[in-house]
Amino acid sequence: MTSPLAQLVRQMPKAELHMHIEGSLEPELIFALAKRNQVSLRFDSVEALRHAYAFTDLQSFLDIYYAGASVLLTEQDFFDMTWAYLLRAQADQVRHTEIFFDPQTHTARGVVFATAITGIDRALRQGRTELGISSGLIMCFLRHLSEDEALATLEQALPFRSMLIGVGLDSSERDHPPEKFTRVFARCRELGLHLVAHAGEEGPPEYIKTALDVLQVERIDHGVRCLEDVELVRRLARERIPLTVCPLSNVKLRVFDTMAQHNLPALLDAGLAVMLNSDDPAYFGGYLNDNFVAVFNALPLERKHAQQLARNSFDAAFLDADSKQRYLDEVEQFFK
Ligand code: HPA
Ligand code: ZN
Repeated sequence: MTSPLAQLVRQMPKAELHMHIEGSLEPELIFALAKRNQVSLRFDSVEALRHAYAFTDLQSFLDIYYAGASVLLTEQDFFDMTWAYLLRAQADQVRHTEIFFDPQTHTARGVVFATAITGIDRALRQGRTELGISSGLIMCFLRHLSEDEALATLEQALPFRSMLIGVGLDSSERDHPPEKFTRVFARCRELGLHLVAHAGEEGPPEYIKTALDVLQVERIDHGVRCLEDVELVRRLARERIPLTVCPLSNVKLRVFDTMAQHNLPALLDAGLAVMLNSDDPAYFGGYLNDNFVAVFNALPLERKHAQQLARNSFDAAFLDADSKQRYLDEVEQFFK
């Protein structure tokens, strides 16, 4: 799409708040790292790997996503992956990004906690100085594992507390409700970490409520199934709870059959604090601007919606008041 609206959404300043850094690992980099680290893959070529990206649901994606992450062994690998993402983000006019990482995916393979976090953190710091992208790192607990394993991961993270802005909850949603992680989230809250959780992607609206009421999260990742519960929608609007919506992910994982069926217009009409995100860009067919162009192509959205999405992205960010205002001023200036 080369319409003026597509140009506008590509060029406007924006923040990204839902992006799993391991999901930015492109097949080419997976093969390069496999070679560098002498890791064998169950795919013969970049093409064969890409061909396997035909997902039927969240779990079918996660199986391949964890296989892809198996090539990450050294601090430099984590740096290279994060740096590659930051260059893509810069090209998409991302001014601020809050990225997720899954330490348990790495510690389970014998990669020590420090290796992953210091490689990612070094790239984020370089991104601030060399690319002018502000950022934060959110550590996710894998919800298919136990709460005791999450608590043990938090212990490992304590020496690196200053590298984290918050914690989240990801992986298989079905049958793993937020309340399974009550104690670990309470402990994170005491530590002053920001709290977010994936909820209402494949799981029911009830999981959005328990993420808010039991875990006391500040943002809901995905949350698109909230529309099944009218009372919940009213509450999310009233309390200005941000929903980090990921449109290409939702179509790839069959949450919606086509982009034309995505409920983003209804979420915006309900006055919800939604913004767009790429989730796992290497697996779902694109980075942040690809998500913007896809939704503006397929759905009845206008310039005012683009402005709202840009505003919401900075409004929902874990930024200090001054930085947030500077970014919001840049958005208003862009749309003048
Ligand atoms: N949902 C849940 N867990 C995840 C995702 C997702 O979209 N991406 C990476 N881990
Ligand atoms: Zn996600």
